[in-house]
Formats: sequence, C-alpha cells, structure tokens
Amino acid sequence: MSDHLESTVPEPAHAHAGAAPQASLPRLGAAAPLFEAVTTHGKIRLEDYHGSWVVLFSHPADFTPVCTTEFMAFAAIAPELRKRNVELLGLSIDSPTSHIAWVLNIKEKLGIDIPFPIIADSNKEVASLYGMLMPDESKTETSRCVFAIDPKGIVRAMIYYPLTTGRNTDEIIRLIDALQTTDKHGVATPANWKPGDKVIVPPPSTMEEVEARLKAGFECADWYFCKKAV
Ligand code: BEZ
Repeated sequence: MSDHLESTVPEPAHAHAGAAPQASLPRLGAAAPLFEAVTTHGKIRLEDYHGSWVVLFSHPADFTPVCTTEFMAFAAIAPELRKRNVELLGLSIDSPTSHIAWVLNIKEKLGIDIPFPIIADSNKEVASLYGMLMPDESKTETSRCVFAIDPKGIVRAMIYYPLTTGRNTDEIIRLIDALQTTDKHGVATPANWKPGDKVIVPPPSTMEEVEARLKAGFECADWYFCKKAV
C-alpha cells in the first residue's frame, strides 16, 4: 500500500442497529462516528447536522442535581452557540420517557426550557462509539463528555469530566470561539485566550519563514513565539 493510501482519513465508524456496542474512542482530527438515534425531538442522524458545528455532550443520568444544573447552563448558552452556528445535542442512557419527564420537571420547578434534543441511548450504541462509558467510574452511567464536531463532521475537541464535577459552559463557548478563530485565520490560540486577545502565529519551519516573520511586525518574544491581532 502506498504512503498516500495509508494516510487518508479513515471512514467514520458507524452504529449498526442490533449490533453489540463495541467501546471505542474518537480521535481528534478524524471523522466523528456516525449514528442514528432516538431523541426528545424525534429520530436524528449525525449526518443531518452537516454544515453546522455540533456540541455533543453526555450526562450521567436524568433527575440528578449536578446534571440539572448543567442542563440549565447548557440551555443558557444555547442562543450564544446558535449565533456561532453550533447545535447542542445531549445524551444519556435513560429512556425517551425519562428525558421528557425530566425536561418537563426542569420547566415546572426551575422555569427553564431545554431547547436542544436529548439522545435516549438505551442500548449504549452512541455512548460506546464515543467512549462515554467509564466502567471504573460507573457501569450504568455515561461520564460528562463533550465533543466539538465541525461542519465537515470532524472531531475537533473532546472534554471528559467525572461524575462529580459539573462542566463550565463558558469554557465550551470559549473553545468554539478558539476553533472558529483557528479556522478563519490559520492561527493558534494561547492559554486563557478569549475573543479580542492576540493569537499565536504558527511557528516557522524554515529559515526563510523566520526572517519573514521577524520583518512582519508581529509581537515576538523570540523567533518561535509571535503573536498578532486578528
Ligand atoms: C449528579 O448529577 O448530581 C450526579 C450524577 C452522578 C453521580 C454524582 C452526581
């Protein structure tokens, strides 16, 4: 086999109805595993989201307090994500009926509408494809995982949190802003970057590039470490 063939992006994994779930872990830069799933908004396929960013996130279980705070926080950022062409998609292995009852309960007791679909992954197919199950942590619940999938269906970021720690939804917006800034300007973003801050100019790989960047008027601490405004 030629080097070229070996380095092509592999076909995305796919959930097959009826097949025993096989645990796997998505890879950054690879095609997001495809799936079809039952949700609180009807049947969906990941392919339906082609052209939009997707934030797919799992939670351990419905009617649990940390998850409830997270759902309120995800609902609060949904409009900001929409402005960025991002769709939210929740998941746990609870049934559709449980999801619906919990969504109604959050509305009734806490006054919050949950605007995004929640996957009822009762047979753990999607959870297995995305490595959301951590048997040493829980045999029956998905961990708190977040996958940022870009409009071409590529996995661009993954966040894994344990059962006991609620996620920071501001960080999810910051992550999307950073990924979209990288795509738009071909740059990287430094620690604790936020929109408006300077970005990192990718390191040079030739002497010619070193000389060019030193003349370009970037803010450089050294030849390999330059920032610019975008
Ligand atoms: C919660 O959401 O409150 C929770 C869920 C699983 C384990 C611990 C806390």
